[in-house]
Amino acid sequence: AKPALPDFKDCVDATQPNDTPINCCPPVAAKIEDYVPSTTTVRTRMAAQSVTVDSDYYRKYSAAIQKMKNLSPADPRNFRQQANVHCAYCDGGYTQKGNSKLLYEIHNSWLFFPWHRWYVYFFEKICQNLIDDDTFVLPFWNWDAPGGMQIPPMYNSVVTSPLYDCLRNPDHLPPSVINLDWSNGDVTVDPEVQMKHNLAIMYTQMITQSKTPTDFFGNPYRAGDNITTLDGAGQIEQTPHNHVHAWTGTIVDTSNPIDMGALYSAARDPIFFAHHANVDRLWTIWLNQLKGNNFTDPDWLNAYFIFYNEKAKPVRVRIQDCLDTTKLGYTYEDVPILWLDAST
Ligand code: C2O
Repeated sequence: AKPALPDFKDCVDATQPNDTPINCCPPVAAKIEDYVPSTTTVRTRMAAQSVTVDSDYYRKYSAAIQKMKNLSPADPRNFRQQANVHCAYCDGGYTQKGNSKLLYEIHNSWLFFPWHRWYVYFFEKICQNLIDDDTFVLPFWNWDAPGGMQIPPMYNSVVTSPLYDCLRNPDHLPPSVINLDWSNGDVTVDPEVQMKHNLAIMYTQMITQSKTPTDFFGNPYRAGDNITTLDGAGQIEQTPHNHVHAWTGTIVDTSNPIDMGALYSAARDPIFFAHHANVDRLWTIWLNQLKGNNFTDPDWLNAYFIFYNEKAKPVRVRIQDCLDTTKLGYTYEDVPILWLDAST
């Protein structure tokens, strides 16, 4: 078998949930170079709830996002272009290289964790570059800990903040406590009860249900596979990942959720990148604390993705080169993990 690969040269309109086509394609890439990260400096991504809006960190972060928003719309590092990267990779923008009749998609399979790791990595690099500060790293939305089970303050400060998004569910703004398996129509319960419920979900998803790499990462997805019938999302992708999206995004009507609530628009909300930093952190916890294993299958290791880097140059990156976050230059703050013994 061969890895499933995107046909990057051939980007077409993606499809919104209401079937309207949307052009999410990045600028055409002339020369794509291979990229393998090499760094000796490791920075610590911090829990978002610990950041105050009068901190230097908040100022740097909002300056970076504002600059990204101010770039020319044609610049692949522009904020909307960055959001469109997610849209093109998941709503029909690409077909499979060598199988132009088959959709290429980075959700619902073993591509989910590594693709999002690389995506957040380049987004972070672009932030560093725009504020000329390579010590800057993104925060993670620590929704698996009671202190992080709300929209973190820095994303909800003032409507003029570049970290604010008005397209969030108005019923779920602070102090509303997230429900990690929220579905539309769920009723609000007592915050304490909700937090305990969330810890139990984390225990189930990370420990009880994630025994093998396939449980955790999702099913293999190779060249020639039809992603629409693969039904291959891993445990964490399904819950809490998908539910955090749905809970955060606003629902205009049930068929038309926007920003965090739909794939094509999810990354238009800056909180997306903190949400995915936390998903990414769970990968490191699964390996290091829970002794899980990465796949060793070459079709996983050799699968590649293409992104525009911080210099606005297209690069090709492989899964095998993202397995150690310290080589990518970051690690995660060691916050207490209360769900480790939250069995019910
Ligand atoms: Cu690409 Cu959180 O989805």
